[in-house]
Amino acid sequence: MNQLVRHLKVSTFSLTPLTPSIGAEVGDIDLTQPPDAETIEGLRAALRDWKVLFFRDQDITTEQHLAFARRFGDLEVHPFAPSKPDYPEVLAITHDKDSRGRENTWHSDVTWREVPSLGSILRCLESPPVGGDTLFADMYAAYDGLSDAVKSRIEGAVAVHDFAHFRKALRKKGKSDAEIEAFDRAYPMVEHPVVRTHPETGRKAIYVNAAFTQHILGLEPEESATLLAHLYAQAAIPEYQCRFRWAVNAIAFWDNRSSQHYAASDYWPAVRRMERVTIIGDRPV
Ligand code: OGA
Ligand code: MN
Repeated sequence: MNQLVRHLKVSTFSLTPLTPSIGAEVGDIDLTQPPDAETIEGLRAALRDWKVLFFRDQDITTEQHLAFARRFGDLEVHPFAPSKPDYPEVLAITHDKDSRGRENTWHSDVTWREVPSLGSILRCLESPPVGGDTLFADMYAAYDGLSDAVKSRIEGAVAVHDFAHFRKALRKKGKSDAEIEAFDRAYPMVEHPVVRTHPETGRKAIYVNAAFTQHILGLEPEESATLLAHLYAQAAIPEYQCRFRWAVNAIAFWDNRSSQHYAASDYWPAVRRMERVTIIGDRPV
């Protein structure tokens, strides 16, 4: 077990790591009961250490899902993705024979926002008989593993992020040019450091992703594309990853500042239904 966790007084729940660096399953916890302050502090520390926490057999209501997430920060309303009826803060991620899974690009959530997400809490309502696993990558390890030459090239570099990914889906849904322009005005492209320093751990993590990053400022397009491709490829290295097999009432709570994720889209035409609540973070530095 990792140093920090061993020294933590995690008295109210148990932790079982999935790998040496990323992913731990939280046991001896019942999220249908509001966790006490000590438990929340313990979970916050465990998230710092493990980047993603998993829970199983948590038959919680939507209200309990929201209330749990609020213990870690304010919640965001996603401007584009479909939400659960009457719950603007709950993203409904449903795929079936008419809608193939699209979350199969390595990314961190909503990096196209000026203030992206601290973390996301995803709950499984219906899982395919097999497939639909989610993979997570430790972006501290990805940074640490870069060559010194690449580290020095990206020191202080800034990248532009955009919700381009969603723009296509909006067009397909029949949104007019005027409506899309209004979204462009509300969510202009943003700049974030290529390497971000985690506000709680002080560790450096790669903070560009294949879904939302457009280019690195001040580089020729080709140079930027080559460097970004190298940085994106780090998330795909198995030694930096863990992989979670879903079941109904399983929950994943990941840190968007230190990890990226990828939902394997291998289950079509089976049904996979998930609900995500997203905690607002701070401006990356
Ligand atoms: C997400 C996402 C992963 C999944 O909810 O942010 O990328 O496993 N989905 O559905
Ligand atoms: Mn995501």
